[in-house]
Amino acid sequence: MVRIILTLAGVMVLGLSLRPLFLPPEFGEHGYYRPGAVSDEANRQARNMTTESCLECHPLIRKIHVAGVHKDISCEFCHGAYADHIKRDTVVGIMPVVRGENIRTLCLRCHNKIVQARPPEMIKLVGYPEHQTDKKVRREHVCNECHHVHAPMKWVHEAREMMGLPKDQEVHSSWTK
Ligand code: HEC
Ligand code: HEC
Ligand code: HEC
Ligand code: HEC
Repeated sequence: MVRIILTLAGVMVLGLSLRPLFLPPEFGEHGYYRPGAVSDEANRQARNMTTESCLECHPLIRKIHVAGVHKDISCEFCHGAYADHIKRDTVVGIMPVVRGENIRTLCLRCHNKIVQARPPEMIKLVGYPEHQTDKKVRREHVCNECHHVHAPMKWVHEAREMMGLPKDQEVHSSWTK
């Protein structure tokens, strides 16, 4: 018993004497409120940033993105968090870029008709593969062969213009049937 009590008392004394080393300077001055906590949080780099913060360094993407129907979609939804790519204004990591067949999965996460809870006036939905068989292409084709990922209607509008059709005319009846 005596040994146990002595050991516990030793541990307590050691703990109490080391405690100040692990506490921030103003801890306890205002009870449980530590003023420095606010500036500590404010100085931490945010993991996520705005689309505008990405576009500062990607002027070519800016030109396409802000003019397209995806202008309100955050870059980070498709590419991942700012903090994995940039620290203190320098590139520290390469952003993931979805390629090949995985692009279809990415697009359908938002545009799949199966997700019936999304009202059509908010977002246009398509069925896969019906959307592609409608246009007489095979299911193996990937969405970005017809839709620019950063401005999905860009090439569709350009094609309509080349064919002398009005910008908002439905395409399928005249160009695929
Ligand atoms: C401080 C400037 C800067 C900012 C801010 C920035 N980037 Fe970049 N980004 C670069 C540079 C430089 C490269 C080229 C890196 C290389 O090829 O080594 C790059 C490359 C990329 C790539 C291509 C990777 C590849 O495999 O080809 C993507 C995608 C990308 N950035 C997306 C983003 C997104 C999304 C954001 C915002 C969350 C962003 N960038 C913010 C400078 C920036
Ligand atoms: C809807 C999803 C989506 C959004 C939103 C998006 N991207 Fe991309 N991005 C992609 C895909 C998919 C690719 C690969 C394109 C390909 O291979 O055709 C790509 C490619 C890129 C590339 C590399 C080009 C290349 O082929 O190496 C850069 C840089 C980039 N995006 C930056 C951005 C920035 C900046 C934003 C925000 C303004 C953004 N992206 C928004 C899906 C997206
Ligand atoms: C984060 C969700 C999201 C992702 C991922 C996404 N989109 Fe979109 N897309 C939208 C929203 C929101 C709009 C604007 C509302 C609308 O017009 O449907 C839109 C608009 C569109 C439109 C124009 C529809 C129209 O007639 O106005 C097309 C085409 C489109 N996206 C294709 C794609 C393709 C191709 C991909 C994959 C590269 C993709 N989208 C990925 C959300 C998304
Ligand atoms: C063969 C080319 C082609 C491919 C591949 C393709 N699309 Fe389209 N898509 C079009 C055209 C053209 C339109 C214009 C509207 C129309 O004529 O139906 C369109 C329209 C859309 C629209 C708007 C629909 C509406 O109701 O207005 C969405 C969303 C869309 N596509 C998403 C996708 C997605 C997601 C994929 C991949 C699974 C994809 N598209 C693959 C050619 C294509």
